[in-house]
Amino acid sequence: MLLWREKIPADWLPKVLANLPAVLVDHAHLERKAATTALVLEKYRDLFGRVEELNAIAIEELQHFGLVLQLLKRRGIPFTEPRRSPWISGLMGSVRQGVRVSVIDHLLVCAFIEGRSCEKFQILGRELEGRDDELAKFYASLVESEGNHYATFVLMARAIDDAETERRLDFYLDLDAQLIRVPNPEPMLH
Ligand SMILES: [Fe+2]
Ligand SMILES: [Fe+2]
Repeated sequence: MLLWREKIPADWLPKVLANLPAVLVDHAHLERKAATTALVLEKYRDLFGRVEELNAIAIEELQHFGLVLQLLKRRGIPFTEPRRSPWISGLMGSVRQGVRVSVIDHLLVCAFIEGRSCEKFQILGRELEGRDDELAKFYASLVESEGNHYATFVLMARAIDDAETERRLDFYLDLDAQLIRVPNPEPMLH
């Protein structure tokens, strides 16, 4: 896993714990977007040989989406519109145009979203224990899968251009550190 250059802000966890219904809706959209993004990555020529792997990730994310929707239904929480994450928008806004550089950047942004999700799900798995055991188990059960997605996206980028991936990892670690410090009062995962 990456060595992040900035910790998750101290106000993130209390904000999430105090707003679990809204966070679950945000989480549902996050899984939905992860499924569609895996399919979007299939447009890059450098990833034509990886379509089956990307399909498998899309299916897995769609299953996660289904699991969050079930949780929403059981808890009587309506599925409502997505909120915009400044952290995700900031990362996505840095994807460069160009055949080779675009695919590397897009893969690394996906990897960073998976990596931070993995880290946050781990925290939620631990912190929700005794407070909401069903959710604690649910978040703990997603950690391995999102961690694997993180690793898969980084490896896919490295297989295309290892040196460029290294340079961009350095760039994105700085950008993540900068963006994660931007205050976000919304109850969201990212
Ligand atoms: Fe997922
Ligand atoms: Fe994932």
